[in-house]
Amino acid sequence: MPILDPHALEFFSRSPEQTRRMGMRLGALLQKGDLICLSGDLGAGKTTLVQGLARGWGSLDSVTSPTFVLVNMYRRPDGLALHHLDAYRMDSPAEAEDLDIDLMLEKGPMVMEWPERIQSVIPMDRLWVNMRYMGDEHRGMLFTAHGVRFESLLDELRRRSFGGL
Ligand SMILES: Nc1ncnc2c1ncn2[C@@H]1O[C@H](COP(=O)(O)OP(=O)(O)OP(=O)(O)O)[C@@H](O)[C@H]1O
Ligand SMILES: [Mg+2]
Repeated sequence: MPILDPHALEFFSRSPEQTRRMGMRLGALLQKGDLICLSGDLGAGKTTLVQGLARGWGSLDSVTSPTFVLVNMYRRPDGLALHHLDAYRMDSPAEAEDLDIDLMLEKGPMVMEWPERIQSVIPMDRLWVNMRYMGDEHRGMLFTAHGVRFESLLDELRRRSFGGL
């Protein structure tokens, strides 16, 4: 069934490369202060999407899963940094309060894996992406915009991905 909600966009990927390309299109639109939340099961493709996202945003740093270090940072020549948080191992939102998400958002955009673990401390305005396994190399992703900034970001992503709808 097609998604008719103007604040949502559904995309189906048939390969890791296609997921990275979608990430690149999204990354190219990101600005300082933007927050992208990636939810979905283990292996859904969150880190794969971030690989494209960092590249599209303009960083050549390599993207790895921050599961053990919690936060990775990818730099861009203009001095801004994209922060990549993985909250999988966080037990409570109290732990997340020590992270100073607002400070990271002052240095560039931010992307989070397992945001539902720390939902109570993340800003309300965000682009939420639900990723799901649908088969071997088949993944579904549902983008939902919260707040005006992300509504316009999603409009632009829709235009660039599908030439408008
Ligand atoms: N269409 C696809 N999009 C993304 N990844 C895919 C796709 N098809 C197969 N894969 C594979 O699925 C795996 C996705 O792993 P990835 O680390 O991106 O998942 P994750 O959601 O970050 O998991 P985790 O919750 O463990 O961090 C990779 O091995 C990737 O090659
Ligand atoms: Mg991951």
